[in-house]
Amino acid sequence: MGVQISPSILSADFARLSEDIAAVGQDADWVHVDVMDNHFVPNLTLGLPVVEAILKSSPLPVDCHLMIEDPDRWAPAYAEAGAASVTFHVEAAHAPIRLARALRAAGARAGMALKPATSVEPYADLLAELDMLLLMTVEPGFGGQAFLDVVLPKVRRARQLVRDGEHRIWVQVDGGVDAETIGRCAEAGADVFVAGSAVYGADDAAGAVRALREEAEHATQSSWWAT
Ligand code: DX5
Ligand code: ZN
Repeated sequence: MGVQISPSILSADFARLSEDIAAVGQDADWVHVDVMDNHFVPNLTLGLPVVEAILKSSPLPVDCHLMIEDPDRWAPAYAEAGAASVTFHVEAAHAPIRLARALRAAGARAGMALKPATSVEPYADLLAELDMLLLMTVEPGFGGQAFLDVVLPKVRRARQLVRDGEHRIWVQVDGGVDAETIGRCAEAGADVFVAGSAVYGADDAAGAVRALREEAEHATQSSWWAT
């Protein structure tokens, strides 16, 4: 698949979501939608009705990142609504295998997210059930936070697990990804890059997406894992 860029609308204008998504429609691969419930994370964003409205108007497939309690109960509806990728947090899931299977059965790619302090190794055997692993590079909850370099060794180990198991999983990073940090993420093993403030904080959102892609592709070429 190569490098994929998923701009996060958390940093967009919530009163102009369709325009802000259309602005990156030619250049991005996905639109990343952060669902927060004010319980799993100390912030509240949007839920299924807004995601349904986005699905109707978005030129890009929707990459839904659920930062919510009890995803076992709530996540399948996002897949049934038509989100092409639905990611739940393993810290919140009661039965991650059953949930991943339910997401796939509903036609979505199944993603599993890990907070910065959650290790990937205990989940090595789950990778066959997943289409994407999301490694948070900030504590989930807010845009515009500083990138946590401390997560990079985990990105590397996750990529190694994916290679060892010959899995076809994407490794996504989310949080503090910008022109300065994206190269380190790509070099470590990420191939899907979420960026909120680096895209929507820029004067030219589409140009920012293109610049991020260029940086990531450049770093991937010289990486240990993509050769
Ligand atoms: C944070 C969200 C991110 C957020 C990233 O919990 O999951 O998707 O939008 O924002 P930036 O790119 O500004 O760190
Ligand atoms: Zn996110």
